[in-house]
Amino acid sequence: MTTNLLMCKPDFFKVSYEINPWMHVYNKVNEKVALEQWETVVQNLENLNVKIDLIEQDKNLPDEVFTANFGVAFNKKFLASNFKYEERQPEKTEAIEWFQKNTDYDVVELPEKFEFEGKGDMLYSKNTAVIANGYRTSDEAINHIKNIFPEFKKYVRVKLINPNFYHLDTCFSFLNEKTIMFYPEAFEKEQAQQFYEITENVIEISKEDAEYFACNNVTVKNKILLNKASQDLQDKLNSYGFEPIFCPTSEFMKAGGSIRCMVLDLD
Ligand code: ARG
Repeated sequence: MTTNLLMCKPDFFKVSYEINPWMHVYNKVNEKVALEQWETVVQNLENLNVKIDLIEQDKNLPDEVFTANFGVAFNKKFLASNFKYEERQPEKTEAIEWFQKNTDYDVVELPEKFEFEGKGDMLYSKNTAVIANGYRTSDEAINHIKNIFPEFKKYVRVKLINPNFYHLDTCFSFLNEKTIMFYPEAFEKEQAQQFYEITENVIEISKEDAEYFACNNVTVKNKILLNKASQDLQDKLNSYGFEPIFCPTSEFMKAGGSIRCMVLDLD
């Protein structure tokens, strides 16, 4: 259940380096529009009674707005990420300091040589966690994570194979305990079969919706906040009882992220 999220206001958000195929330094972020889009997300979440905690953005860390990548905060433990790219590595210290100052969570770290990008690559619902490797998280990290969070009885491992969908949260999401959504072409066929064993309802989305970052949504009860969705996906969501709320994130997509990337669950 989404009741408390950590977010970072885009005071210094821009695209000043390229670490995924969506990022082009020539494709400038409109800072004013980015701030408006972020505020719309916050407003919608607050209207749904979600409590938003804030971390201040460091002026040298443009991607810090994507707090999902800080780590995994669950059951009073904060497992900090080991960012793959140098450009984002200082975010780790920022995140750890925030948790130490503002929460009673135990901070846990992985051995430095193992890459891990938090809720970008690890998503869970009830007893099941899905972890992806391929681009940002190393396979070896996964064994450690299992020991850190034995609370999850079932771990599903998947490999990402499409560079445009370099984090799990760009191509897979839990909408609720019974429903998941994913983009088949981001995974090997046999591996994607595992998703059918997790929940009753599985929504496969099209390339068009995947490129709208529809999987990068935040769902609160039956409301689903997302950048955009085709009519076909909207109909499917409605048929499972979900009501889309559109929050455009064009500016954040220039950095390869949308709504789910902007939040880190704190409960
Ligand atoms: N520019 C960021 C990066 O490449 C975007 C991160 C998006 N976050 C996410 N959870 N998918 O690291």
